[in-house]
Formats: sequence, structure tokens, C-alpha cells
Amino acid sequence: MKNIVVMVSGGGTNLQALIDAQTRGEIKGGHITCVISSRADAYALERAKNAGINTVVLARKEYPDSKTYSKAVLDELNRQKADLVVLAGFMTILDECVTKAYPYKIINVHPALIPSFCGEGYYGLKVHEAALNYGVKVSGATVHFVNEKADAGAIILQGTVEVKSDDTPEILQRRIMENVEWKLLPKAVSLFCEDRITIRDGKAYVDV
Ligand code: GAR
Repeated sequence: MKNIVVMVSGGGTNLQALIDAQTRGEIKGGHITCVISSRADAYALERAKNAGINTVVLARKEYPDSKTYSKAVLDELNRQKADLVVLAGFMTILDECVTKAYPYKIINVHPALIPSFCGEGYYGLKVHEAALNYGVKVSGATVHFVNEKADAGAIILQGTVEVKSDDTPEILQRRIMENVEWKLLPKAVSLFCEDRITIRDGKAYVDV
């Protein structure tokens, strides 16, 4: 069984989707052993506690810069013996000391179709605001491996939704979460834990 460590910063609906999938027996080959939050007040922590999962708070604001914060994260991931790290609404970019120590072992969910509306500064509702401002007719979410460049690692799964003319960022966010994120993130985690993702030439392929 692989040890899955989930990192969160906010509401934790993606964490909840992972917990629910685990309860239904849909995460094959792994189990969530710890939830790490970058904020002490993240509701995601309540979700973890309700599910009986061990929690750790590493508050970003208590560290002077990304490098020292990332070192603390790395130490905790090593202590937890993480086989897979899942960034589920984790709003801090991790320094390369973490990404280099866990190559192709960190998965992120991004609420747009990478390479659109991604990279530094694109997170949470800002992503959906940008998509609506641009006027795209479809959007979606991407589950990908994390490397040293923000939102630039190998894509594992993507899914789309229609953008409607009267959408607000909140409405679009909700449609993408319900239809794509909450389904594809647990699926990608299970595929990883079953060793069904292969990397070739820096790209990820799902073994069927
Ligand atoms: C989700 O839409 C997730 O894709 C996004 O923030 C939301 C977190 O919701 N993540 C990012 O923007 C990371 N760049 P949640 O806390 O309810 O899972």
C-alpha cells in the first residue's frame, strides 16, 4: 500500500472527493495517511479529522520565504514516508528542493486546461476569472505531475466542461469541480497507486 500525503490550503472539496473515493474502495493500492495544511484555519483540516486522518499544519506565514517553507515541507514528507504527494487546492508553490526529491511523485489538480490559464498567479477563482475574461467556450481541469516550473509538469488526465454566457467565476468553478476535479483527481491517484502511469520523453501515459 502506498502512503498518500494530501496537501491543502482551503475548503478541501478535492480532499473530500479523495476521502469519499477511498471509503468506496476506489483508491486501489494506496491510502491517505496524512493531510498537511499551509493554513491553520483551513476547513480541509476538519474534513481530515472527521475521516480520522492524521493532520499537520505547516503555516506558510510562519516562514520567511519559499525556500525555508519548502525545506519544512520536505522534512515532513520524509517523516511521513510519502510515496505520493497530492496537492489538492494547495496554494503555495513549492521550491525545487521538494520537486527534485519527489520526481513524478507529486500530483496537482489545476482548474483549467493546461497550458491555458496556468502558472504563477493563476490559482482558485483567478483562473476562472481569466477564462471568462478571455471568452473561452470550454474550460476544465488538469491533473498533472509537479516539476520545478509552476503547472508545467506532465499531464495525466484532463476533462472539459462547457462555458456558458452567463457564468460567473463561482458558477464556472463549481461546474468544473463537480464534473471534472472531483472525478479525475481520485482516478489519477488510484492509477498512480496501481503503477499504471508510465513516463516517456517527459510525458505521462496511462496504461490501459
Ligand atoms: C480547486 O478548484 C483547485 O483546482 C484549485 O483551487 C480549488 C481548491 O478547492 N487549485 C488551484 O488553483 C491550485 N493552483 P478545494 O480546497 O475545495 O479542493
